[in-house]
Parts: sequence; C-alpha cells; structure tokens
Amino acid sequence: MTSSGPDPTIAFNSPPFSSLSSTLALGLIILEQDGRIVHWNDWVAKRSGIVADVALGKSLFDLWPETTQARIRFAIDQAITQGQPSLLSSSLNKYLLPLYEDPFRSDPVQIRQTVTISSFYMTARMCVLQIADVSAAFARESALRVQAQLLNESLERQAQIMKQLENHNDTLDSQVRKRTAQLNELAKHLQDVSEEEKTALARELHDDLGSILTAARIDVFSSAKLLAGSHPDIHAKLQRALRYLEEGIQTKRRIVEGMRPTILTQFGLAEALRYTAEEMAEVSGWTLRLTVEEDLPLSEELSLTLFRVAQEALNNAAKYSEAQCVEIILEADEHTVRLVIRDDGKGMELDAVHKPRSHGLAGMRSRVEARGGYFEIQGAPGRGVEISVSLALSQAE
Ligand SMILES: Nc1ncnc2c1ncn2[C@@H]1O[C@H](COP(=O)(O)OP(=O)(O)OP(=O)(O)O)[C@@H](O)[C@H]1O
Ligand SMILES: [Mg+2]
Repeated sequence: MTSSGPDPTIAFNSPPFSSLSSTLALGLIILEQDGRIVHWNDWVAKRSGIVADVALGKSLFDLWPETTQARIRFAIDQAITQGQPSLLSSSLNKYLLPLYEDPFRSDPVQIRQTVTISSFYMTARMCVLQIADVSAAFARESALRVQAQLLNESLERQAQIMKQLENHNDTLDSQVRKRTAQLNELAKHLQDVSEEEKTALARELHDDLGSILTAARIDVFSSAKLLAGSHPDIHAKLQRALRYLEEGIQTKRRIVEGMRPTILTQFGLAEALRYTAEEMAEVSGWTLRLTVEEDLPLSEELSLTLFRVAQEALNNAAKYSEAQCVEIILEADEHTVRLVIRDDGKGMELDAVHKPRSHGLAGMRSRVEARGGYFEIQGAPGRGVEISVSLALSQAE
C-alpha cells in the first residue's frame, strides 16, 4: 500500500510503542488495510511460536493458512472496510487463532481466546486485534457446566425415584383401598350372619322355651290352686316356683327382645328408639330430648344398623356418662339419614376408643362403615359425648 504519511511498520515497531506493547498481558496484532501485519507483540510471538521479524509484512492468512475461520476473516473485513468492531470468543470446539500455552511442546495446548477486532485511522484504516487468554475462565465455566450437568442428572434421577415412589404409593393406596373394601364387605357379611343367627335363636327361645315355660306356669298355677286349702306348705312352695317361672319368662323376653328387637320390625326405627330411650332414661334418671322423624324410608338393614348404634350409645351413656340430659336426633334428607346421640355427661378421652376389651364404639364404626356410612365420635373430658352417623338411604349392595 502506498500513501503519504508515516510508515506504519516503522511507527508500530518503534522502541516506545514496541516496549509498551511488550508489557501488555494480551496479544496485539495490527494489520494494514491490505491485511499485512505491521505489529506483532511479544505476547503473540510467545504463544504462536512465530517471532515478529517473520510475521511482519505478511498477511495474517498467509502466515496462518489454517486460520481460515470465516468469522475472523469477516470481522477483519468489517473493521477495515466499515470501521465496525467485533468481539469473538472461542466456542466449545473452535479456538479462533492457533495460539498455544507453549507452542514448542510436542503436544501443545491451545489457548481459549476472545479476540476484539477494531479499527482506527492512520494513513488508511488500520485493523487491531486484541487477544485475551480466557482458558482459565473457560475451564471454570466448563467445570461449572459439568457440575450443572451432574446436578441436572441427579435431579432427573431424583425425579425418577419420586415418580417410582409415587407409583409405588399409588399401588399401595389402591391395595389398601381394595383390602379395606374387602374387610368392610366381610364385616358386613359377619354382622348380617350374626343378626340372622340371633333372629333364629330368638325365634327358638321364643317358640320353644317360651311355650315350655308358659305350659309349666299354667300347670304349676292350677296345682297350686288345687292344693291351696289342703296343703298350704306345698301351696307356698308352688307359689314360689310360680314367681321363679315368671322371672324366667321375663328374662327370656328380655333376651329375645335384645336379640331380635321386635319393636323395630313391628313399629319401625322411630318408635323403637323412643321406646328404648325412654326405658333407659327412666332407669338412669336422664332428661330425654327426642327429635325423631317418623316413617323414614329405611330398609330393614339400615334400621337395624342405626338401632344397634343407638342401643350401644345409650348403654355407654348409662354405664359411664353420669349425664343429666341425653338427646337423640333422627333426621333425613332426600339421600341421607342421620342419627345423633348426645349426652351432657362427664365426657371421655377420644383414645378410650382403643381400650382393650372395649368393642362397643369400634363395633359401631365397623357396622356403619361396612355400609359405606360416616361415623364420628366427639368428646372431651367434661364436655359429654356425641356420636353421629350418616348413611345413604339407598344402599349399594
Ligand atoms: N357416653 C360416654 N361417656 C363417657 N365415657 C364413655 C361414653 N361412651 C364410651 N365411653 C368410654 O369409652 C370407652 C369405650 O367404650 P366402648 O363402648 O367401646 O367399650 P366398653 O363400653 O368399655 O365395652 P363394650 O362396649 O365392649 O362392652 C368406655 O370404656 C368408656 O370409658
Ligand atoms: Mg360399650
């Protein structure tokens, strides 16, 4: 290139500039507009293995034919023709310029670089390449990238394990649901069987034992009557036997009634509840508050379940509560029947439900849940006890 003004090769290799340039911790290459190298500092010489004397006057691309990277060529061209600067960085596999930590080693390690390409105007537009070694930062970044990758993998593994656990939990859940349903079914079946057996036993007691006791009472009664005048001592014994027989008949009635609440089958749940509750209130001295809906459309099974719950709740209240007042509510809407038995007695700790050899409350819950119903006990010391039960009116069989 011929132009008036200072010769760039001389200007950029004069002692002050060269010494300044040699102190830089970066590479500095200055190109003329035609691409010829006019400055090549020590940093570049040391890392390229090419001394300045060899480099000066040559084109960068003749010197480094392998540096055919389109990015650099394009950036230099942009800087020289339009004065437009660029910043290029080594990417993962591309190193930009062939610079090495030690170019004379048998296996030289190439430097990761950023190359800033800019221009300035002297006799013509000149191009400056500033090269920084970013190998250390790159290594740190790569290490971070590896760590991030490992972290990612471990997160993925964790997510997979969570998923497996969730699946496992789902399987367990569904097994528990299945087993619970089976147990409920079994409990319901056992309760039905037990009720049927009680009914059969009650019938036998009523029909057989009942007629035997009645026949014996008639005979003893007529014998006592016959002997009243002639044998007062035998008459007295027969009278005593009559009283025993009467007690036996009453006991049989109570047992039969307990096993097969005829009042329930004959008059329905509302009446059976009223009768049983009034009887117990009289014995226990409670004030009774009854709110029972009449003529609810309840199946025999449903009535019996609710009646058994009420019986046990009232028994418990009589045994433990020392209540002043007991309240019974039986109500229903279109779909659900609800029974509540509440006392204002001394209350209980809720873990009393798990007392060994106490089966009443557990039995109530099992009866209700076996029929798909909802059972709840509320109670605390000094606050009375409330048992509430809800059951669907139409029972899925
Ligand atoms: N209404 C109540 N007031 C105070 N305590 C109660 C009441 N109902 C139940 N409890 C307490 O809860 C315990 C458990 O009652 P549950 O009916 O399960 O068994 P139980 O009556 O002890 O025995 P079982 O009913 O098997 O003959 C009772 O022992 C009693 O301590
Ligand atoms: Mg009980």
